[in-house]
Amino acid sequence: NKILCIVGARPNFMKIAPIMAAFRTRTPQLAVKLVHTGQHYDVAMNGRFFEQLGIPAPDISLEVGSGSHAQQTAEIMKRFEPVIDAEAPTVVLVVGDVNSTIACALVAAKRRVKVVHVEAGLRSRDRSMPEEINRILTDQLSDRLYTTEAEALDNLVAEGIAAERVVFAGNVMIDTLQASLAQAVPAEATLAAARDPEIFLQASQGYAVLTLHRPSNVDDVQALTRLLTVLGELSAELPIVFPVHPRTQNKIREAGLGAFLDNPHLLALPPVGYFEMIGLMREAKLVLTDSGGLQEETTALGVPCLTLRENTERLITLSQGTNTLVGADPDTIRKAVNDVLTTGGKVGRAPALWDGHAAERIVDDLACWLGVSA
Ligand code: UD1
Repeated sequence: NKILCIVGARPNFMKIAPIMAAFRTRTPQLAVKLVHTGQHYDVAMNGRFFEQLGIPAPDISLEVGSGSHAQQTAEIMKRFEPVIDAEAPTVVLVVGDVNSTIACALVAAKRRVKVVHVEAGLRSRDRSMPEEINRILTDQLSDRLYTTEAEALDNLVAEGIAAERVVFAGNVMIDTLQASLAQAVPAEATLAAARDPEIFLQASQGYAVLTLHRPSNVDDVQALTRLLTVLGELSAELPIVFPVHPRTQNKIREAGLGAFLDNPHLLALPPVGYFEMIGLMREAKLVLTDSGGLQEETTALGVPCLTLRENTERLITLSQGTNTLVGADPDTIRKAVNDVLTTGGKVGRAPALWDGHAAERIVDDLACWLGVSA
């Protein structure tokens, strides 16, 4: 039995880390290799995470880089097919919903290699979101599907996927969060980069963390301007630290919106490492984001999250966690921020099986499914 684990983009790294670790400790008899597609390649988006999360260096690197969705997906497929042929794996394990996930799942399925999907069954029901397409198709191609919340099973069954293939395993991202909190970098250290760090560190008011990278928020100049305007205004009340995704950085530059970041109350940083990010979030008054992972991490940390999207696939963060959907309407955002500032925000609880042991359950189940003893 040989397993190829796939990573490509930043949110994959936190998911694969505990899975690789669990394979190492629980099933040393399984041959496990890590394939990196190279969808993300910058040190800030890639290298630093391998180091901090103790992920072994990839055995195979496809180095595809950036491109349109079709180009990127096709390039991954072209480069992954010979890997499948050379390695002859029993299983290809993919995580999340990025282009690398669907590209490798599709190649594997056509070569009759079993596909395992970690983080299956999440649905935003918004097909304008490229990740939604990736999620639906990857789940259709998968032989074993591990879910992070019980409701995901209903989504899968409604799409004709046999319930026997689906295992509720919990959230591997939270495994990584729990294992890393002791190494979180204190916010103070990261905020020291501010022109006036005192603005951020006054205990009485606190600060917010902002991330933005969804095409719906950043690719359209008007939408981006509207968001940056309201967030700029709000920063006078609650200073905002903003690690800027390269995609967003490019869009801000192209649109000539750099002046929005010239605000002492809005600290724009290059993408920060994982330990820096969890340190910032843990101490934040609130998080404003359009990311999927941050909705989950804030729920696990008990920090209020305002999601700058009209929908989410992580419904459990709304029903049980600290997440609130606020969309992109300036008035709604203003009101939601003020609600958090006056009431302290939504109080949640940790969803079932977000307990730090999801990867162990996945590896044990996988071993059993493959007929090897864990
Ligand atoms: C991808 C994922 C998204 C995930 C996000 C996390 C898909 C469809 N989307 O979106 O689900 O939430 O990663 O970051 O797979 N760039 C760099 N350096 C890098 C990588 C990218 O500068 O290391 C720039 C390039 O200009 C590139 C742009 O960022 O064109 C976007 O990168 P891409 O991988 O296409 O998608 P993301 O927006 O990062």
